[in-house]
Amino acid sequence: MALAGSPKILSVDWDKPESWTLKTYGGKYPALEKALKMQPQAIVDEVVKANLRGRGGAGFPTGMKWNFVRKETSFPKYLVVNADEGEPGTFKDRAICERSPHMFVEGLIIGCFALDCHLTYIYCRGEFRDGAIKRVQEAIEEARAAGFVGKNILGSGFDLEMHVVAGAGAYICGEETALLESLEGRKGYPRLKPPFPANAGGGLFKQPTAVNNVETLANLPSIVMKGGDWFNSVGLVPKNGGTRLFAVSGHSRKTGVFEAPMGITFRALLDDYCGGMREGSTLKAIIPGGSSSAILTAAEADWASDFDTLKSKKTMAGSGGVVYLDQSVNMAHALANVMRFYAHESCGQCTPCREGTAWLSRLCDKIMQGRGEKTDVDNVHQIARQMEQKTICALADGAAMPAKSYIEKFRADFDALVRQ
Ligand SMILES: Cc1cc2nc3c(=O)[nH]c(=O)nc-3n(C[C@H](O)[C@H](O)[C@H](O)COP(=O)(O)O)c2cc1C
Ligand code: SF4
Repeated sequence: MALAGSPKILSVDWDKPESWTLKTYGGKYPALEKALKMQPQAIVDEVVKANLRGRGGAGFPTGMKWNFVRKETSFPKYLVVNADEGEPGTFKDRAICERSPHMFVEGLIIGCFALDCHLTYIYCRGEFRDGAIKRVQEAIEEARAAGFVGKNILGSGFDLEMHVVAGAGAYICGEETALLESLEGRKGYPRLKPPFPANAGGGLFKQPTAVNNVETLANLPSIVMKGGDWFNSVGLVPKNGGTRLFAVSGHSRKTGVFEAPMGITFRALLDDYCGGMREGSTLKAIIPGGSSSAILTAAEADWASDFDTLKSKKTMAGSGGVVYLDQSVNMAHALANVMRFYAHESCGQCTPCREGTAWLSRLCDKIMQGRGEKTDVDNVHQIARQMEQKTICALADGAAMPAKSYIEKFRADFDALVRQ
């Protein structure tokens, strides 16, 4: 939860009883009512002004993506929701779907209106069947009964159908083109780009498609009601508007989902929102944006958490999954754990990823078990470097970034485990 005085956009209703119901949401979709009276392009212009950056991982400017889709002349167009949330350490979309599904559904309808889309799919992580999926389905049914979904929404002449699809159970299905393949009924293999999903030939059923994250879309009601300039002003650094839901785990005193302004430092997030480190714990390392991001040392805790600052520091804000680790963690053990995940989840299409992730995992296990040599540590770094920017999708880079950075910043932990 956000601290008193700091803005709450997404978690504003979470402490209310039955926060997931339309009744608690206020019984109405006022932002949708307002949006339906606006020109679709004017909505996109507000999103551009808001500096809303995609919350799925890449931080791509949402307004720019929507303008790409709007410029296409091929119809139908689609808005597809990425609710797959597979990045280790990330659990904030689930919180939105379970606790404020109406904010997300209202944002989704506004987005569809802005893009002239009349059929939308919500691709939700399959494991969320009894929680997030159920809540979103119930919210859609409530919205339909209230006239917000279906034919002639609120008498505007705008029609929209929406379907919730249970994901296929693979991390790679969260990559947007793998997600589209999976939605079309095939194996979740990422597609070669271009064409990009926003362009004709690259999207769902080859039609222009915006793929957006749940949190990205849940911001739309506030942007429409309060304006893009207001939203932009909430962020603490330029070109990063609004707040962010940080999913915090590890050795901080409090863990969970915390809403804080975009660009808050990792130290302020830890001290002001999470109550600092646990009794007896000293901060050693920070995973800043899901397991695919390069690691930070304790000395780097004053870095701002926005997309641009972290990119300039050769890591990434990613999915907003933050893990604070203490002195009890040997980073070679942590890396072995992370590498096992990527080796398991590589789809196998690209040789550097298929072979590289498996090789990294084997070497990290060897080091962790005390069977490694100094050259094995060097090899992990070298293999990771050779996997970068050579593959169809970013999963290989997502494995390489932690591998390289854990060794560069915590070499002593590795050396302590190997024969010199
Ligand atoms: C391996 C991999 C897994 C991903 N998993 C997710 C995910 O679970 N949820 C998500 O929103 N984006 C995920 N992404 C990012 C999506 O490809 C895409 O950038 C995002 O859905 C776009 O939405 P946004 O612009 O609103 O962030 C993943 C990317 C990669 C490379
Ligand atoms: S990088 Fe890895 S996960 Fe992505 S397409 Fe290639 S093999 Fe598949």
